[in-house]
Amino acid sequence: MLSQKTCKGSILIVDDNPTNLEVLSDTLTAAGFQVAVALDGETALEQVQYYQADLIILDVMMPGIDGFETCKRLKANPLTRDIPIIFATALSDTTNKVTGLSVGAVDYVTKPFQCEEVLARIQIHLKLRNLDKILETQNLLLKQEIQQRKIAESLLQKLNQELEQRVSYRTIELSEALQKLEQTQVQLVHNEKMSSLGRLVAGVAHEINNPVNFIYGNLNYAMEYNQCLLTLLELCQENFSSLPSEIQLYLKKVDFDYLKQDMPKLLSSMRIGTERICEIVLSLRKFSRLDEADKKIVDIHEGIESTLLILQEQLKGRANHPEIRVIKEYGELPLIECYVGQLNQVFMNLLTNAIDALDEQNSRPYLVNNAEPATIQIRTQRVHQDWVKICIADNGSGIPADLQPKVFDPFFTTKPVGKGTGLGLSISHQIIVEKHQGQLLCHSELGKGTEFVINLPCKIKHDHQQKQNLEILQTI
Ligand SMILES: Nc1ncnc2c1ncn2[C@@H]1O[C@H](COP(=O)(O)OP(=O)(O)O)[C@@H](O)[C@H]1O
Ligand SMILES: [Mg+2]
Repeated sequence: MLSQKTCKGSILIVDDNPTNLEVLSDTLTAAGFQVAVALDGETALEQVQYYQADLIILDVMMPGIDGFETCKRLKANPLTRDIPIIFATALSDTTNKVTGLSVGAVDYVTKPFQCEEVLARIQIHLKLRNLDKILETQNLLLKQEIQQRKIAESLLQKLNQELEQRVSYRTIELSEALQKLEQTQVQLVHNEKMSSLGRLVAGVAHEINNPVNFIYGNLNYAMEYNQCLLTLLELCQENFSSLPSEIQLYLKKVDFDYLKQDMPKLLSSMRIGTERICEIVLSLRKFSRLDEADKKIVDIHEGIESTLLILQEQLKGRANHPEIRVIKEYGELPLIECYVGQLNQVFMNLLTNAIDALDEQNSRPYLVNNAEPATIQIRTQRVHQDWVKICIADNGSGIPADLQPKVFDPFFTTKPVGKGTGLGLSISHQIIVEKHQGQLLCHSELGKGTEFVINLPCKIKHDHQQKQNLEILQTI
């Protein structure tokens, strides 16, 4: 047995002729090959199961299965199909040579053997086989590398996706933070503005309230006393045939007959005026509700009415301003739990916007049919056991479609500097949506008018209840 180091390779010789076997075996052994032999095809097929041949020399004509069949079976077996096979055939037998090559042999040697030639051919084919093996290994390595690169690429893609996702999450977080910041800023401005406005209104109302009550409380007495004095004078006139000339002159001078008729009228119109002041003061107090920062259960029609009263002057017709008709369609509403002062602020914002839009429309009469008077329509309705709806609509200028998504943005205004702050609707939105967990919607058509819809829950719910509550609203 040759050592692994000097062995040039293992050759299996299959031949039924012992002389051939011996010659070839001796030559190959001498040349440094390890040699195994088989006398027929079947034995050779069995032998290759445990003998690792690098090359097979196969005789064609053998007892049992011939060389071609043996070759076919070797090529059909994945374990042996790569072993190079050289056929041994007679010198003149071209058919055998061709058939041998067609069933998978790599070469042929002719009998009688030319040992030098056989050796040279074996060496070439072993070399080719080795190159083949190297190529296969390299191919395998290349395939593995491609596979690894593919894995790395998909990993990179995944990382990239993750990164993109993280960037987009972060962007969303940042823009949410920015929005919150803006809202907080608006809220701060609003709180500051509202608390000082509220304090001012409440202060004025309080200051006026005392003297007005003073006047109102004494008016009845004044009327009564006046009646007494008049009666006294009449009695004098009746009971004295002639009054002293000084008194008669004085009665004439002051036109006593007219004074007697006018004085009660004057006092009663004073009473009407004072009652009106009392009403306005009450509205101002109701509107500011400074003492009621907490939730209260109220009739929201009262809030709407007091807001309308405050705005009454602006609803009246003036030079360059049409009179604005207010049509109220109040439904049966339950008492609502709400932050009254803030809700009234929403009514105020929506109504002043409507008045502004109607004023603007007047300055651009081509927008609306002139025959249609400037109108604000206020409708209230209980739309569900837990929900009420308040609509404030005007037939003013309307809002262009491209501006409609912006009207609730803080500081968005189309009004001239000094008139608009652009905060009214964003504050109203915050009050309705965040404070009361309701909805504030805007429907508008350019040149036709605008409607703001407030959907308000009858009771302010906790966040988790509110989600369900809002779902109800979708079904209405
Ligand atoms: N009823 C309305 N009709 C037409 N435009 C309106 C109406 N209400 C609001 N707008 C538009 O929305 C903008 C924002 O309103 P708002 O937030 O109250 O701010 P401001 O009234 O100070 O401008 C207004 O400038 C106006 O362009
Ligand atoms: Mg406004």
